[in-house]
Amino acid sequence: MGGITSALMGIVAVLGRGVVPADEPLLHADDLGALRGDGVFETVHVRAGVAWNLTEHLARMARSAERMELALPGADALRGLAETALAAAPEQEEAALRLICTRGREYGDEPTVYVTLNPIAANLPEIRRDGVKLMLASIGYPLEPADVRASAPWLLGQVKSLSYAINMAGQRAARAAGFDDLLWVSADGWAMEASTASLMWIDGDVLCTVPPERTSILPGTTSRFLLDHAAELGLRGEERMVRPEDLSHTDGVWVASSVRGVAPVTRLGEVDLPVGALNAAMLELAGFPVAELA
Ligand SMILES: Cc1ncc(COP(=O)(O)O)c(C=O)c1O
Repeated sequence: MGGITSALMGIVAVLGRGVVPADEPLLHADDLGALRGDGVFETVHVRAGVAWNLTEHLARMARSAERMELALPGADALRGLAETALAAAPEQEEAALRLICTRGREYGDEPTVYVTLNPIAANLPEIRRDGVKLMLASIGYPLEPADVRASAPWLLGQVKSLSYAINMAGQRAARAAGFDDLLWVSADGWAMEASTASLMWIDGDVLCTVPPERTSILPGTTSRFLLDHAAELGLRGEERMVRPEDLSHTDGVWVASSVRGVAPVTRLGEVDLPVGALNAAMLELAGFPVAELA
C-alpha cells in the first residue's frame, strides 16, 4: 500500500474515556485482542465527516459479537463513540473509521472498546481506477456436499473477528507472486472472497455477489448496498455461486469493500480481464468520486 493522503489524523477514542492522545499506549499487555485476536471490529468509510452505512456496520458487529459470545456495548454507545472521534477530527473528504471491541483483559470481565480514525491510503484512487490483480488461492476445504464452517461455529464463518493473520498472510503471498490480492477458492472450485473484500461481477443485466449464507464468507456491507441499488444501473441484484474460470465470460469483475469502494479486477490467476464498461457507474453507485477516474 502507498503512503497517507495527509498528516495522520490519528484520532483515538475509548469507551468511557473519550478522545485520548493517539500516540499513548492504550491496551494492557494481557488484552485478549492482542494475545489471541479475540474480539471483533468494523472498518467504516467516512465521507465528508459522516460514517457511511454505520447502521449496517453496527448490525454486523453485533452479529459477529453474538457468534463469538462477546459482550458488545449497545449500538447507541458505539455510535456515540464514533461520533466523538469524528467530532475531534478536521473534516476530510475521505477517512477510515475503525470500531474495535476485544474480550478485554485476560482475567477481567470488561471488553476493551475503542475507535480509531485515520486517513485513507494515498493510492486508493489509483486502485479504484486501475484495478487489482487477484491470485487464486485455495481455502483448503470444499463447500459441497456441505460447508464445514456452517456447522462448526468455532471456525467463525461470517464473523469479522480480530483474527486477520490468515488474511494478511494471504495478501503477502499474493504480493510475493506479483498480484495485489487473492481470491479464496474452495477446494471444490467455488469463488469465495478476497482477503478483505467481497467479489462482485456483472453477468448481462445481473449484478452478482457470492452468497455468504451458503459459503460462510463475510457478508459485505458494500456488496449488499450495491445489490440493493442495482436497479439504478438498470440491473438486478443476485447472490450466485460462481467458478473463477466462469468469471472471464462476464461483463466485469470487481472487489468491493467499505474503504476501497469498488475496484475492477484486471487479472484473475493467469487470465487478464477487461475493465467492465460499467466501472465508473459502479463507483458512482457506491457513492465514490468518479472524477478521480479521469
Ligand atoms: C474478508 C472480508 N470480506 C469482505 C469484506 C467487505 O466488507 P465491507 O463491504 O463491509 O467492507 C471485508 C471487509 O472488511 C473483509 O474483510
